[in-house]
Amino acid sequence: MAVDPSAAAQAEAAARRIEEAEAFFRAAPPLRDRDRLAASLADFVARHAAGSGGVVCITSGGTTVPLEQRCVRFIDNFSSGQRGAASTEYFLKAGYPVIFIHRRGSKQPYCRFLPEDSFLDLFELGEDSEIQVPQSHSSVVKAAISNYRKAIDEGLLLKLPFTTIFEYLQLLQMVAISMNCLGHRGMFYLAAAVSDFYVPWETMAKHKIQSASGPLNMQLNQAPKMLFILRKKWAPAAFCVSFKLETDPNILLQKAEMALEKYGMNVVVANELANYKDVVVMVTSSRRTTVSRSSKEEDLELQLTDLLVKMHSEHIAQPNL
Ligand code: PMT
Repeated sequence: MAVDPSAAAQAEAAARRIEEAEAFFRAAPPLRDRDRLAASLADFVARHAAGSGGVVCITSGGTTVPLEQRCVRFIDNFSSGQRGAASTEYFLKAGYPVIFIHRRGSKQPYCRFLPEDSFLDLFELGEDSEIQVPQSHSSVVKAAISNYRKAIDEGLLLKLPFTTIFEYLQLLQMVAISMNCLGHRGMFYLAAAVSDFYVPWETMAKHKIQSASGPLNMQLNQAPKMLFILRKKWAPAAFCVSFKLETDPNILLQKAEMALEKYGMNVVVANELANYKDVVVMVTSSRRTTVSRSSKEEDLELQLTDLLVKMHSEHIAQPNL
């Protein structure tokens, strides 16, 4: 029987990607608290497996790349976590339980409108030294507390924090494998800005890199793209939305289409650094849909999540697609 050479090459490339990912996980420093996180994840998924609606895993914020095992220095990126935090609020509002994999210290759902600088501006001392919220902030604080408490008390929000690329990818793997039992009801919304390059743990300096020996030359390895493994192995039936960020508008849509095809995503949301809060293009195999906000007061994520919820219900209703 003749073997299709392109199919054979594809199978070989797939096997190589899977092996690269496995090698990454073998060498990565194990997650601290893995057992506790795994238990709360298993509990969350089991609780929602009984329902019939969608469950979404949202990734948010940027991964760091440590340069030393006892880390003093690291490479970081610009992501604030705004998109992931806002999207979490809208998915919760649409009735989705949310697993929020987020960078420690990045924007959090329902806290986006609270002042960061200084947090103490939120409070004042009353006559008897009791803590009060000034009138000017009270409605924002009340809404934040009640929405957040509702999501937590109703068991609809599970927050899993990461800092490094090692933690992020291990959490994503753990969540994806555990959400596999949800089949088409699972959704991944991968808004985190994940480093494409990293220093492998085993070749990383153990202690603080010294400056006495002159300029620093360092080679960064390519981080394995986990989108492919997510789709092929961890949660093949899930609805997968990844993001593509570029600074050059001339290559953005072409790169998004490549990602759609190469990693088998259902949707790639293309955004440009210069205006990512104002406009994105949702790329699917059949169309490109521009989503833009009409004013600075509006969250683009409101329209984006609305469209995705509709597409995901179609995905659930037509499991053979
Ligand atoms: O957080 P904000 O400030 O609100 O910003 C939001 C955002 C601009 C960061 C967000 O909208 C966005 O575009 N996120 C993805 C940015 C990115 O890392 O793009 P990329 O081209 O490097 O990666 C594309 C996809 O591959 C991402 O979905 C990423 O999760 C995934 N990836 C990346 C590297 C890797 N090793 N494995 C992956 O799976």
